[in-house]
Amino acid sequence: MMEDISSHIMDIVMNSVTAEAKHISVVIEKDPRTSILGLTIADDGVGMDSETAQKVQDPFFSTKTGRKVGLGIPLLKGTAETTGGSFELTSARGAGTTIRATFDSRHPDLPPMGNVRDTFFVLIVSHPDVDFNFHYFVDGKNFTLDTGELKRELDGVPVNHPEVISFLSKYLDEHL
Ligand SMILES: Nc1ncnc2c1ncn2[C@@H]1O[C@H](COP(=O)(O)OP(=O)(O)O)[C@@H](O)[C@H]1O
Ligand SMILES: [Mg+2]
Repeated sequence: MMEDISSHIMDIVMNSVTAEAKHISVVIEKDPRTSILGLTIADDGVGMDSETAQKVQDPFFSTKTGRKVGLGIPLLKGTAETTGGSFELTSARGAGTTIRATFDSRHPDLPPMGNVRDTFFVLIVSHPDVDFNFHYFVDGKNFTLDTGELKRELDGVPVNHPEVISFLSKYLDEHL
């Protein structure tokens, strides 16, 4: 199991970046009534055919075939299922991929959230060409950031320009 939910998010979003996604949305939401924590990551990258989409969910796939395929997806699936949650991967070649996991936040084996602020920050500044749409609605926090919109406002100044980095850093500190 990964040590925190943020590490899962980083791993799954990096898959989207590798799949050449230009738009990636990350929604983390906790329903205050049911205590169900939901994580949805959607991209418009290259996608997978249905056979591949099935195989990458199998933790034994990489060892069986000798192919170099990691464990990011099986690990997230495992964490979700261990905590009484669910896991769903939908993908289509040329269209993109959506991964949705839920967790029961009262389950004793749910890993801590970890540092969502740093995860978002690193993703934004290290992938300035990707438009990220972040939503974080958990325990009274209500944070939304659309870097595509931010870039339109910046009018050509890159999101990894030193002054923008410093603005983003403060913005994330204040809101997350
Ligand atoms: N968002 C995605 N778009 C297209 N292919 C993906 C995506 N996420 C995962 N994959 C495919 O599934 C494989 C397994 O992903 P993962 O379990 O995270 O391990 P790793 O990233 O180490 O290969 C990737 O190597 C890639 O081929
Ligand atoms: Mg991965």
